[in-house]
Amino acid sequence: MDTTDQTRLDEALAAIAKADADTLEAQRIAALGKAGWISAALKTLGAMTPEQRQAEGPRIQGMRAAVAEAIEARKAMLEAQALESQLAREVLDLTLPAREMPRGSVHPVSQVMDELAEIFADLGFSVATGPEIEDDWHNFTALNMAETHPARAMHDTFYFPDVDAEGRKMLLRTHTSPVQIRAMVEHGAPLRIIAPGRVYRSDSDATHTPMFHQVEGLVIDEGIHLGHLKWTLETFLKAFFERDDIVLRLRPSYFPFTEPSVEVDVGWQDVNGRRVLGGDGDAPGHGWMELLGSGMVNRRVLEFAGLDADKWQGFAFGVGVDRLAMLKYGMDDLRAFFDGDGRWLSHYGFSAFDQPTLSAGVGARA
Ligand code: PHE
Repeated sequence: MDTTDQTRLDEALAAIAKADADTLEAQRIAALGKAGWISAALKTLGAMTPEQRQAEGPRIQGMRAAVAEAIEARKAMLEAQALESQLAREVLDLTLPAREMPRGSVHPVSQVMDELAEIFADLGFSVATGPEIEDDWHNFTALNMAETHPARAMHDTFYFPDVDAEGRKMLLRTHTSPVQIRAMVEHGAPLRIIAPGRVYRSDSDATHTPMFHQVEGLVIDEGIHLGHLKWTLETFLKAFFERDDIVLRLRPSYFPFTEPSVEVDVGWQDVNGRRVLGGDGDAPGHGWMELLGSGMVNRRVLEFAGLDADKWQGFAFGVGVDRLAMLKYGMDDLRAFFDGDGRWLSHYGFSAFDQPTLSAGVGARA
């Protein structure tokens, strides 16, 4: 046994056991580095006789392994210590109250969408969605607006410069009606959905913003007729405005995707100089305001969506969500909806705890 080596090994192991991160690296270099003493000892093996090597090989390798293991162990220990002291330093008391209570509130658009989902869920409708970046087939063609249809020009569409893999023009959807097509293609018939979401038109003034919200409604079944449409809209609007005296007036209209098409007006009455929904639209001091577009789904649309138009009928409607919010909660400038002004939000916003339910009334009391 080489006593010098044994002493060196003992000294090295003792130094490693006390080393910090820097001196540990120095110890590693002194023993196992290119010019280290164990590396030097390993190099002597080449010049030995096989017998000598049989004895010396395991001894030197043993020292190398002992030093390497000691270094690894010390390193792991130093890392654990560093983590411990970091955790001790960075105390975070999660039970402390926030210094300033957050004053978030639910935006009226979200509130109204929640109310709509609740009302229509009760009527057996589920919520469907579609992409805001659409292609012109879903937004126009399948809704019976061919390339040359004049209604396309009326939509003030934002187009993208490129086309998709199928060569379709890409655009920001101008209405939620393309979700009708997507829902029919995906789920077939029968079907009862509402599709709330953002829509875009290049148009802007006090009552128009380039982005606004619509909710689409679609029912497909056998034997569906205009009576179903009228009942559904009446039931929905009575629940939404929380009044039993909501009256509707249906006027003939035109949309390429419905036939016949019906414009729906809602009756209002003058209460101390304010127009309040309800009452009898035709009486003195009462009137009608235009609320939404609707109609029986055009059979060409059913065919585009792959349904048998002799078997299935349906009705559809589309209404502005922002407008519903303004009418119900009394805002007068649509642009304020999208300004992100904290004062407006704290005035018109709703508590996150005020969940619309049919049993407690869908209206928020905030
Ligand atoms: N998509 C129409 C619009 O944006 C509204 C509508 C929807 C009309 C469904 C009829 C049926 O004006």
